Amino acid sequence: MIDVENLTRVFGDVTAVDGITFHVNEGEIFGFLGPNGAGKTTTVRMLSCLISKTSGEAHIADYDVSNDSDSLKIRKIIGLVPDNVGLYEELSAYRNLDFYGKLYECPEQRRKENIERLLRMLELWDKRDVKVGTFSKGMKQKLAVIRALIHDPEILFLDEPTVNLDPESSKIVRDFILELKEEKKTIFLNTHNLDEAQRLCDKIGILNTKLRAIGTPEELEESVWGKKTVIQLEQVNKVILKALDKLSLGKIVHNNNKLTIDVVNPELDNPNIVNAIVGAGGHVQYVTELSPTLEDAYLKFVRKS
Ligand SMILES: Nc1ncnc2c1ncn2[C@@H]1O[C@H](COP(=O)(O)OP(=O)(O)OP(=O)(O)O)[C@@H](O)[C@H]1O
Ligand SMILES: [Mg+2]
Repeated sequence: MIDVENLTRVFGDVTAVDGITFHVNEGEIFGFLGPNGAGKTTTVRMLSCLISKTSGEAHIADYDVSNDSDSLKIRKIIGLVPDNVGLYEELSAYRNLDFYGKLYECPEQRRKENIERLLRMLELWDKRDVKVGTFSKGMKQKLAVIRALIHDPEILFLDEPTVNLDPESSKIVRDFILELKEEKKTIFLNTHNLDEAQRLCDKIGILNTKLRAIGTPEELEESVWGKKTVIQLEQVNKVILKALDKLSLGKIVHNNNKLTIDVVNPELDNPNIVNAIVGAGGHVQYVTELSPTLEDAYLKFVRKS
């Protein structure tokens, strides 16, 4: 659905996006993570035909973003929630949406249905006749999400859609994104919220001008380190550590009577470890697995770059 190859954008002497290559399948939620200035917004702007690329290729549903007649077709099948919501402050919520719906040539009946359905879903129906200039940041943000959907796009670009939202509104928008996935929409999500990326995304790209890593959240997490077993003991002593040395395990870190052990195969290694500790007179209080988080993966790839 979204095919990007060696895509690059240079502004003067700043390379904002440098030779990125990735593919997003139909119906997938793709998350783009990266520090401020990493090139996330620049990428979304190139893919939604708002700015030109410097080099490389990008296709949306087989249409070429750098071809003028294709870019008109792309605009019809995509919806964009930009990083800067840009609504008409003097118009009511309803009239803003109606205006954009007309701009996208959405037929009147469909427009009416969509506006009502979406305003109700994001809990703004009661505010439909209120001027947008009086809306809070979060309300404007939700309205921008609705605006992106008025013309029933197949692909959605969301540039930090929950950035101004309170926890409850963030959840409404996140649940809404999952409903859009059920409708088989393809979603490209820029976010700084790692928890949000973890919950929503099928695939995640970590960008820092160049694409540093790409994979499912689980693949990225597993790439940080192998498996670790954590064992809390009543008391660690030399006899126990000596018994563990004989098992040819990975690195063992000892802290506050807690052992963190690198293991290759926990199902095989853990019983041996526990037996060795018990055999050396140790008392095991608990055994757990230590899993890396998406934050660990993010920091690893961003720091490496
Ligand atoms: N119109 C422009 N003119 C000049 N430089 C630009 C322009 N747009 C973006 N840049 C530069 O490109 C780089 C990438 O910016 P971009 O906005 O894409 O980052 P981002 O990943 O979206 O960051 P953030 O997380 O802060 O939103 C930055 O160095 C920025 O200054
Ligand atoms: Mg941005």
